[in-house]
Amino acid sequence: MKSDEKKMFITGGAGFIGSRLTNHLLGEGFKVLVFDNLSVGRRSFLNNNKNLKFIKGDILNKKLLSGSVKDFSPNFLIHLAAIHFIPLCNKYPIKTVENNIIGTKNVLEAAKRSGINLKKVLIASSGAVYYGCKEKEHKEEKDLMPTEMYSYSKYVNELQLRHFYNITGINSAAMRFFNVYGPNETNPHLFPAIFSQLKSGRSTLVIGNPKPKRPYIFVDDIVNAITMIIKLPKKGFEAYNIGSDKEYSAAEVINIISGLVGKKLKFKSDPSLIRKEDVIHFKPSLTKIKKEIGWWPKYDIKKGLSKLLEEEKVQL
Ligand SMILES: NC(=O)c1ccc[n+]([C@@H]2O[C@H](COP(=O)([O-])OP(=O)(O)OC[C@H]3O[C@@H](n4cnc5c(N)ncnc54)[C@H](O)[C@@H]3O)[C@@H](O)[C@H]2O)c1
Repeated sequence: MKSDEKKMFITGGAGFIGSRLTNHLLGEGFKVLVFDNLSVGRRSFLNNNKNLKFIKGDILNKKLLSGSVKDFSPNFLIHLAAIHFIPLCNKYPIKTVENNIIGTKNVLEAAKRSGINLKKVLIASSGAVYYGCKEKEHKEEKDLMPTEMYSYSKYVNELQLRHFYNITGINSAAMRFFNVYGPNETNPHLFPAIFSQLKSGRSTLVIGNPKPKRPYIFVDDIVNAITMIIKLPKKGFEAYNIGSDKEYSAAEVINIISGLVGKKLKFKSDPSLIRKEDVIHFKPSLTKIKKEIGWWPKYDIKKGLSKLLEEEKVQL
């Protein structure tokens, strides 16, 4: 990749995944413009770097958004901004539609008008688009079946991106992330809940349902996959599963942490934290991304959790 082709516009770039990605790309010599309203993301997650430009802005502000994209004239646009926490999306469906669907429409319209330099657009979809599917392992080519507000919005985002590709011919990919964990996670998922309790010295952890299994993937593997998709010369519209091929329950995660810290941790389940609709098994097929891109997770759960314990400076 030539150095004058390394301009990246990232919406939601101050969030959990976005900040890790931005810091990585800055390290690779990219010029990055992060566009984020800081509703949950933080400026402090981003390294200071002369190649980083930050705009505090909302993707619902069409004028600021399209002006920012046009002025920067990126080679790549990665759209990560969204309301991401499922219980919040269910509580505020209209806000979710505005933010996740109208917001994506604005981002793609801005991309359409951004000029000739734009080579590729990536958006964050989610494994949640398979929630209603019965298969044990989800393949990209199968029909999708969203079941709640968040997954509906991601499903629509994929249709929006496909339409964008059809009318512009700009290469596009929907990235179906599955259960990502790592430092600076912003939403109150399992790992932040466990880590904040560990830091406060609790030895009996309060969690939701200990049984459902999830293909937890360390954030650096996600960053690596995104970087590989950007560099891939393949043309067209694609959707890729990005997750782990191994599933773990919350109970198993706590046991693994116990082993790593050398202290027996107990847990109890709080019924108010249990989601009404929850699938017990949830696993992506990684055949497509392995075959087309050569990506495979480098972190197994122990390696990822060790890194997280180290970066979160957990001392028991
Ligand atoms: N973390 C996961 O496990 C996971 C799994 C599947 C999909 N995803 C998707 O990946 C993307 C990034 O996830 P994340 O975990 O980093 O979430 P995050 O909430 O940390 O990041 C989203 C970022 O977008 C910003 N944002 C939200 N609404 C905005 C708006 N209207 N205008 C501008 N900025 C706005 C937030 O401030 C935040 O920094 C999201 O689209 C999410 O749905 C994440």
